[in-house]
Amino acid sequence: MGNASSFWATFFLLVLVASVARGDPLVPALIIFGDSVVDVGNNNNLTTLIKANFLPYGRDYVTHRPTGRFCNGKLATDFTAEYLGFTTYPPAYLSPDASDRNILTGANFASAASGLYEGTAQSYSAISLTRQLSYYRDYQMKVVNMAGQARANDIFSGAIHLLSAGSSDFIQNYYINPVLRGLYSVDRFSDLLMSSYSSFIQLLRSTELFSNKEVLRQNLYGLGARRIGVTSLPPTGCLPAAITLFGAGSNQCVERLNQDAILFNYKLNSTSQGLVQKLPGLKLVVFDIYQPLLDMIRKPSDNGFFESRRACCGTGTLETSVLCNDRSVGTCSNATEYVFWDGFHPSEAANQVLAGDLLQQGFDLIS
Ligand SMILES: *[C@@H]1O[C@H](CO)[C@@H](O)[C@H](O)[C@H]1NC(C)=O
Ligand SMILES: *[C@@H]1O[C@H](CO)[C@@H](O)[C@H](O)[C@H]1NC(C)=O
Ligand SMILES: *[C@@H]1O[C@H](CO)[C@@H](O)[C@H](O)[C@H]1NC(C)=O
Repeated sequence: MGNASSFWATFFLLVLVASVARGDPLVPALIIFGDSVVDVGNNNNLTTLIKANFLPYGRDYVTHRPTGRFCNGKLATDFTAEYLGFTTYPPAYLSPDASDRNILTGANFASAASGLYEGTAQSYSAISLTRQLSYYRDYQMKVVNMAGQARANDIFSGAIHLLSAGSSDFIQNYYINPVLRGLYSVDRFSDLLMSSYSSFIQLLRSTELFSNKEVLRQNLYGLGARRIGVTSLPPTGCLPAAITLFGAGSNQCVERLNQDAILFNYKLNSTSQGLVQKLPGLKLVVFDIYQPLLDMIRKPSDNGFFESRRACCGTGTLETSVLCNDRSVGTCSNATEYVFWDGFHPSEAANQVLAGDLLQQGFDLIS
């Protein structure tokens, strides 16, 4: 059984590669929402401290310049765009690149330090998911104007919509916010995040459904999205910054945080299954990044890495600032050997491994 299904997986992969080689992207557009894992520069001109538009960020990128990506080079979603056959990456919606026909093949609405919980984005002056959705509506009107309603509808329903969220809610909010921790257990907080995840995709509670036509449209499904991928939480307890902040002096992964991520991911799975059952025509895939990242961290040499505890940039033995910048001392010279670029984010090399995994998990979205 395993062999047969992996045979078919390989077969379909070859068919996909062949069609990408002909120069047709597999889907009409790629639309991205979420946090710093996928932000490509929307925070650059905001009054937030959470930015990556300075060196050494971007030093290994195509242009060797910082873009706002929290990485030395490409993000997993950049590789995903390439694998899907796109010749450009979805531009940051707030940048001048997101103009005219550039946006017909997609756009990126993500904002570092944003999360499923509205308060997370608010406390860093980042763009909340609700605001990201309203930018998406704005985007859709532009596409309709350029392409006409019928073709625009095909673009919206055929496009892959990706969401990366949740890490900031825990690392940059819950774990450092005594008020939140006083109000909610991890289990309750995760439930709260699930309810905002649900309403991002589609409001399911009937009271809200009947009250207001506008509310009906304020969600991805209501806006015509039918192919949605959402990433799980990573092993948050293994992020170098988490080890420094919460590891009590040890250099091992913080098991408590990893357990929280597993609980969240379990809820994400079941909530997603519920959504698929209730929403006709919806393809929704939960991309597991927990296991692939944990494998790289536990056995770095199996994947060609040699360092998975310390980040390439911005982590010393006991950093007070977990940020990486051009004054950070000891930035490594070759980030391809590191799983983590900075205290929170994988290196380009790790992103490439993750993107390969996403592709295998994402068949249902393309087929
Ligand atoms: C930020 O503003 C500068 C100056 O106005 C502009 O050149 C740049 O393209 C903007 N970038 C983004 C990502 O908005
Ligand atoms: C979520 O579901 C997928 C596919 O059914 C499974 O592989 C994965 O282990 C599940 N994750 C969790 C955290 O339950
Ligand atoms: C960086 O390390 C990788 C893997 O060890 C190696 O293949 C590559 O040549 C190195 N690059 C440089 C510029 O040293």
